[in-house]
Amino acid sequence: MRERALGSSGLAVAPIGMGTWRTFDVRGNAAEANAHAVVDAALASGATFFDSSPMYGEAERVLGLALTGRRSSVIVATKVWTPAPAEARAQIDAALAYFGGRVDLYQVHNLVNWREHLTILESLRDRGVVRAIGVTHYSASAFSELEAVMRTGRITTIQVPYNPHQREAEDRILPLAADLGLGVIVMRPFAEGRLLRRTPPQADLQPLRAFGVATWPQALLKWVLSDARCHVAIPATSKPARMVENAAAGSTPWFGPAEREYVAQLGDAA
Ligand SMILES: NC(=O)c1ccc[n+]([C@@H]2O[C@H](COP(=O)([O-])OP(=O)(O)OC[C@H]3O[C@@H](n4cnc5c(N)ncnc54)[C@H](OP(=O)(O)O)[C@@H]3O)[C@@H](O)[C@H]2O)c1
Repeated sequence: MRERALGSSGLAVAPIGMGTWRTFDVRGNAAEANAHAVVDAALASGATFFDSSPMYGEAERVLGLALTGRRSSVIVATKVWTPAPAEARAQIDAALAYFGGRVDLYQVHNLVNWREHLTILESLRDRGVVRAIGVTHYSASAFSELEAVMRTGRITTIQVPYNPHQREAEDRILPLAADLGLGVIVMRPFAEGRLLRRTPPQADLQPLRAFGVATWPQALLKWVLSDARCHVAIPATSKPARMVENAAAGSTPWFGPAEREYVAQLGDAA
């Protein structure tokens, strides 16, 4: 995978990253060893961007441990997720301890108390502990507020859902992000796995083979990344082999409009 600029954030990322919701909220030797194996597979496949949050239970801790000894070669993105500034500071202290004293991208999770949290994150950025600041939201119902935050000039990335079943970001968010030069991180590329419940027959994927697509998850990831306004997709998986499969979608050639439309039609039947 070739790295690309994450908008104006100053960060460079391989286009397939990895999420940790549910998959890294694990405890115990066997489950944590499995999470480490997923990170091993991600790094071996060229993934560099890892997303977490204090909302995801054990995920930050497990991810931090899995990155031991290789922290400097990855981009860690995590979040602050609480209405209370005191709790925000506790979350930040914990994350800094997990991730070697710095977080590359700090995001306000679901825009919770974003005005106060951005001020805290800006002071961390000024101290060099945080490199870039962003916000996330999972729901199109919050996109008006997201738009307002994007226009403040205080953030350089956004994280939103985008897949053939959830295209609301196309209306105003992706065009605005492109206008403002913001980095775009795509959560839920498989709609939390719902788009994978029914896989199109292998013959239907044949027209996509020339694009390096061999499987339905790869078709969906390439659909996202072929929209030039999106910079990195962060599928979550608990299986090392699936991480390798997903990462293989992060290389050229990208789809054109006809292939994207074709995949969207296959997605309608999924
Ligand atoms: N508000 C927010 O900030 C917010 C909200 C939602 C998500 N996120 C971030 O976005 C990340 C991704 O979203 P998500 O986890 O909700 O959903 P997702 O990535 O769309 O889907 C994850 C599901 O897909 C399955 N999967 C992954 N690769 C697969 C493959 N190659 N073949 C078959 N199944 C596969 C996984 O199951 P297996 O484990 O069995 O592979 C898992 O159940 C999250 O982990 C989180 O980091 C952020």
